[in-house]
Amino acid sequence: MTPRVRQAMSENPRSGGSSLGAMYVMAAFLMLVGSLFVVAMMFVPSDWLDGSDTSDAYIPGSGPGFVPAARPAVLQEPPGVTQMGPDRYRVVIEAYNWEYVPKEIRVPLGAEVQFVARSAQDYHGIAIIGTGIIMPLLQNEIAEATHTFTEPGEYIFVCADYCGAGHATMSGTVIVE
Ligand code: CUA
Repeated sequence: MTPRVRQAMSENPRSGGSSLGAMYVMAAFLMLVGSLFVVAMMFVPSDWLDGSDTSDAYIPGSGPGFVPAARPAVLQEPPGVTQMGPDRYRVVIEAYNWEYVPKEIRVPLGAEVQFVARSAQDYHGIAIIGTGIIMPLLQNEIAEATHTFTEPGEYIFVCADYCGAGHATMSGTVIVE
C-alpha cells in the first residue's frame, strides 16, 4: 500500500461514511433474508399454511385407521369395471389423497364406457386425456361421463383440481385394447 493511499484512507471521515456503509450492508442482508424466505416458502406444502393437518391423512398403503367417506346410496358397487352389455361397460373410480382406485382400467376397443367417479376423501378432479372428459370430484358426489373408445391405446387420467401435496402424483390409465 502506498503512503498516499494510506493517507487517503485515513482522511476518510469515519463517522457518517461508515454508518451509511452499515446501512447498505444491513439493507443487502435484509434483501437476502427476504429472498431466501420467498424461495423457502415455495417448498412448503400448501396444507401447512392453511392449518389443515395432514399428519394423520390417509396415504394409500400407509394409513391405518383411515375411514373413507361412505358410498352414497346411489353407488353401492365398489370401484372397478363391470360389463353391462355387449359393448357397454361401467367403470367406478374413487379418488383419495392421493390416488385413484383403480389405477388401471382395461376395456376393449369400441366399448362405450360410462365413468362414474366420486371422491372418498376431500376434493379432487379427473381429466381423462384424449376423451374430453374433465370433471370435478366433490367428496361423495357422483360425477358421470360416457365415452366410446374408437382408438386403441393408453389414456392417462390425472387429477384436474389442485388438492394439496400429492396432487401431481394422482394419475391412472385406461387401457383400450
Ligand atoms: Cu387430487 Cu389434485
